[in-house]
Amino acid sequence: MSVTKSLPHDAAPLHVSGTARYVDDIPTPKGSLHLAFGLSPIAKGKITTMDLSAVKAADGVVMVMTADDLPFTNDVSPSIHDEPLLSDGTVHYIGQPVFLVIATSHLAARKAARLGKIDYAEETPILTIEEALAADSRFEDGPRIYAKGDADAAIARAAHVIEGSFELGGQEHFYLEGQAALAVPNEGVDMLVHSSTQHPTEIQHKVADALGVPMHAVRVETRRMGGGFGGKESQGNALAVACAIAARATGKACKMRYDRDDDMIITGKRHAFRIYYRAGFDEHGHVQGASFLHHAICGWAQDLSLPVADRAMLHSDNAYLLPNARIESHRLKTNTQSATAYRGFGGPQGMVGIERVMDHAAFELGLDPVELRRRNYYEPAHAVVETTPAEKPLGHPDPHEDLTSRGAVEVGDAPVRPLPAGGNTTPYGMEVSDFELHGMTEALLKSSDYVTRKAAIEKWNAENRVIKKGIAFSPVKFGISFTLTHLNQAGALVHVYQDGSVHLNHGGTEMGQGLFQKVAQVAASRFGIPQEMVKITATDTAKVPNTSATAASSGSDLNGMAVKAACDTIRDRMADYLAERHQADPVSVIFSNGHVEVGEARYSFAEAAALVYQGRVSLSATGFYKTPKIEWDRIKGRGRPFFYFAYGASVTEVAVDTLTGENRILRTDILHDAGASLNPALDIGQVEGGYVQGAGWLTTEELVWDGKGDLRTHAPSTYKIPACSDRPDVFNVALWSGENREDTIYRSKAVGEPPFMLGISAWLALSHAVSACGDSYPALDAPATAEEVWRGVHRVKGGT
Ligand code: MTE
Ligand code: MOS
Repeated sequence: MSVTKSLPHDAAPLHVSGTARYVDDIPTPKGSLHLAFGLSPIAKGKITTMDLSAVKAADGVVMVMTADDLPFTNDVSPSIHDEPLLSDGTVHYIGQPVFLVIATSHLAARKAARLGKIDYAEETPILTIEEALAADSRFEDGPRIYAKGDADAAIARAAHVIEGSFELGGQEHFYLEGQAALAVPNEGVDMLVHSSTQHPTEIQHKVADALGVPMHAVRVETRRMGGGFGGKESQGNALAVACAIAARATGKACKMRYDRDDDMIITGKRHAFRIYYRAGFDEHGHVQGASFLHHAICGWAQDLSLPVADRAMLHSDNAYLLPNARIESHRLKTNTQSATAYRGFGGPQGMVGIERVMDHAAFELGLDPVELRRRNYYEPAHAVVETTPAEKPLGHPDPHEDLTSRGAVEVGDAPVRPLPAGGNTTPYGMEVSDFELHGMTEALLKSSDYVTRKAAIEKWNAENRVIKKGIAFSPVKFGISFTLTHLNQAGALVHVYQDGSVHLNHGGTEMGQGLFQKVAQVAASRFGIPQEMVKITATDTAKVPNTSATAASSGSDLNGMAVKAACDTIRDRMADYLAERHQADPVSVIFSNGHVEVGEARYSFAEAAALVYQGRVSLSATGFYKTPKIEWDRIKGRGRPFFYFAYGASVTEVAVDTLTGENRILRTDILHDAGASLNPALDIGQVEGGYVQGAGWLTTEELVWDGKGDLRTHAPSTYKIPACSDRPDVFNVALWSGENREDTIYRSKAVGEPPFMLGISAWLALSHAVSACGDSYPALDAPATAEEVWRGVHRVKGGT
């Protein structure tokens, strides 16, 4: 069977030989033109005069467009029509596109885009949380509040109360391939658009609106992206729409790609948050109540900010059963880039909040941080009623096994926590029925040798003054499904040709995560044929319509199931025809090892396909899937937004030079739950990459805007993503061997985003190392850059 095999990424040889084709590599027709935007140099104001004569006169310039030249809707927003392609006379951030240059080369377009002479009536921009709150500048009328029980009362009654606040920075996506699009005018009003997008249907929709044509006149094709990470869910709209409009106006193919600096200045990033927290614990470290206040910086346009901020709220519990909880979320509108989706989609921000609470509480209560966490975990899966009996026995370890007997952390003498009145439910009322972290934590503590290493680190820290070490554990529980319920659907189109080769298409997009390979493995398995017989093809809105973005980690869950449905339809037709021919029972027809067996007869898959074709039976089918069981009311904050949860746990060890704040990760151990993995090699790749990206967010990646709202970190020279040499010196990654308790594609679990949040243990490990310098809690902000670590050292030493 092809699923569960560690096959390499289908395009790996192309990636490493530089022959994988990205949008900018597609051969363009003769006379193709290139685009660049002229950008606003101020953060807020109105355009008073615009003189573009020098732009028009520049070398190679064919045409220059402003909002007035746009034929139809001037809008590229994915949500509420608040994002004009070109400024409507007002500007809202430094980097906002004001005019569009169409020229004979990329360089000519970019050079000319600098020549606009525009006067602005400047207004005072809103750049900070304080300024936004003072001006009541926000999306939605007021804060959103989700609550369970009475957190304030529970905290007031608690034996121990901790509180604090911290900054949590944004993050640049830094996909290796920048945003890019190419529009090729076809016959009549038809337009073909190649776009580096996670969401071809959205591009089709926005291009159709901008051109004033039905969606059927626009075809969008996406073979692959060189990384998306959420940054290509909505941020590619502007380039695709600009190319389509320019192609319509000039009759030529038009291409646009952002240079790295432009990409960083124009496009949105992860939402920066400030989080205030208060939590009450009893003397055994059992949390009684937790209260969070989120201030999310959303930038100038709404984009996906509401669901991002919602998901942050939905992950404010992470792995912990909070008997009382209150989460208040403010979505602030500022004169900066429009913050957007980024791996985890707000989940990481919410999760960092509760992990900070656990870290802070363990410090104050003098408990081992892992021990405190485990005392507050959700109840294990076995303790709650199984809602879907699995088809096959589950591969989970015996949950009744004595967890203390394996020589890891002692569970200690805390009395058993009484199950709160609300049961084993999240702050939004969803029953947690698949909680895997008790067993996973135990296994990871053992494999990472946590207890021994922690003792060795404490000894090291007592003996060494300058270099301090730290170790920390953090768990992940991440909800899988789009919270906008209707997005949880997918389609597929499968053809079997008369030579037995298979053409595979579905609505998902490939961004390096290996989705195409995993889904091809599903198709090969359904037909019982070798992988090589399945042709992976580009995502194409003309083949599978009305798709959702490849996002929320649901790519393989949704498209895998849709492809399975399509394959099974064809397989059933083949079986029916062949069974009739051999007077056998259709269910007795076997597809395996590249052959089809019907009674005594044995055909190669190719022979079978040829026979069925000659029998005039269709060998082409669509497939469709929608996620069951989910329902969600985002206003009330009640329901079952997620089909299931994906789990993970990590232990990170760091060393810190306390004189400079410089630090590095010495060792990381991870145990991650990908269910019954469709492809362990690809999934481990996702876990490794996710962890490093998450650790980068919380340590070295710092976005800095100046007092005028100008992003000063707009290139790799000033914005530090982890380099290869920054990965942990020792990096042990393993997958948890369990099947999804819900009925997903081959009982696998989504794996794209959840491991990102394993990086939280790197931030906590730095905090642990810094705490060795004094007696107070380090209270690090994020990112904990070398400077912030250095400041933390001074704080705990009793400085400022
Ligand atoms: N992995 C790679 N290599 N490149 C990416 O851009 N994006 C991440 C994750 N892993 C990404 C990645 C994000 S944000 C998501 S939502 C998922 O992949 C999307 O793909 P999936 O649904 O197929 O997991
Ligand atoms: Mo991922 S942030 O859902 O594209």
